[in-house]
Amino acid sequence: MVKGVGVGFRLDFVGQEELVRQHVDFLEYSQKRALEAVKAELGPFIGQVPIVVHSLNLSLGSIEAPADYRVEALKQTADLVDAPWVSEHLSYSRSGDMEIDNFIALPYTDEAIDVVVGHIVALKQTLGRPILLENVTHSFVWPGSVYTEGEFIRRVLEKADCGLLLDVTNLFLNAETIGYDPLSFLNAIPRDRVLQLHVAGHTEQNGELYDSHVGGIDPKVLALTEWVMNNTSCDAITIERDTDMESFEDVLQDLNLCRAIYNKYRNASAPAV
Ligand SMILES: [Fe+2]
Ligand SMILES: [Fe+2]
Repeated sequence: MVKGVGVGFRLDFVGQEELVRQHVDFLEYSQKRALEAVKAELGPFIGQVPIVVHSLNLSLGSIEAPADYRVEALKQTADLVDAPWVSEHLSYSRSGDMEIDNFIALPYTDEAIDVVVGHIVALKQTLGRPILLENVTHSFVWPGSVYTEGEFIRRVLEKADCGLLLDVTNLFLNAETIGYDPLSFLNAIPRDRVLQLHVAGHTEQNGELYDSHVGGIDPKVLALTEWVMNNTSCDAITIERDTDMESFEDVLQDLNLCRAIYNKYRNASAPAV
């Protein structure tokens, strides 16, 4: 069962298993490697703390279906940790032989919905586990889009019958960059499908905002997180942290902020900090 406050797994956590177990309710593992490497990295945590699996490279918005070997690696990892769900990004990062290390938002069209829903339905069947989709950052909206981002996400989730991994920081950055009210997005998505949150610190460079996953979550992102916890039944908050981190202690400050929000809106059954 995954509920409470979790953290994205990092190799820095190895050797700090006891501390991690004391402070988090679950871990999120980003799937990038073959099974033997996953076992070596995650070994001490498997069976000790619930783990959800976050996929990075299926490119569900591409016309071409995800490569079988990638789906198989994801399935092996999800089976290894008995993940209650698997998440992937609502985006594409591959076209034919070309692939980039980033997530590109889709055009908000019926054609894109049909493509991504087809891949999700097939993936669900192969994995035999629920799928969550994550909203990604974007700095423009494709010409020809006929839906808002929130309406597009609603249609995909309902047609594919899957959940939303709502990245609150991404929502905040998109609202600032594109220029929309985050509450209009939140009012468009199906609230009962919000099953997991991502929150992280972000950075600003030359007037551009980046979801850089640094420490120090913006108070406006925390306020949006409170709104979501107050207005949905979502029961899992995840902190993403990719920089400024040498050990698990570095994430404790953000963890405490998120736990305070969690405990305000849900039963405080989580470990004491
Ligand atoms: Fe992600
Ligand atoms: Fe995220």
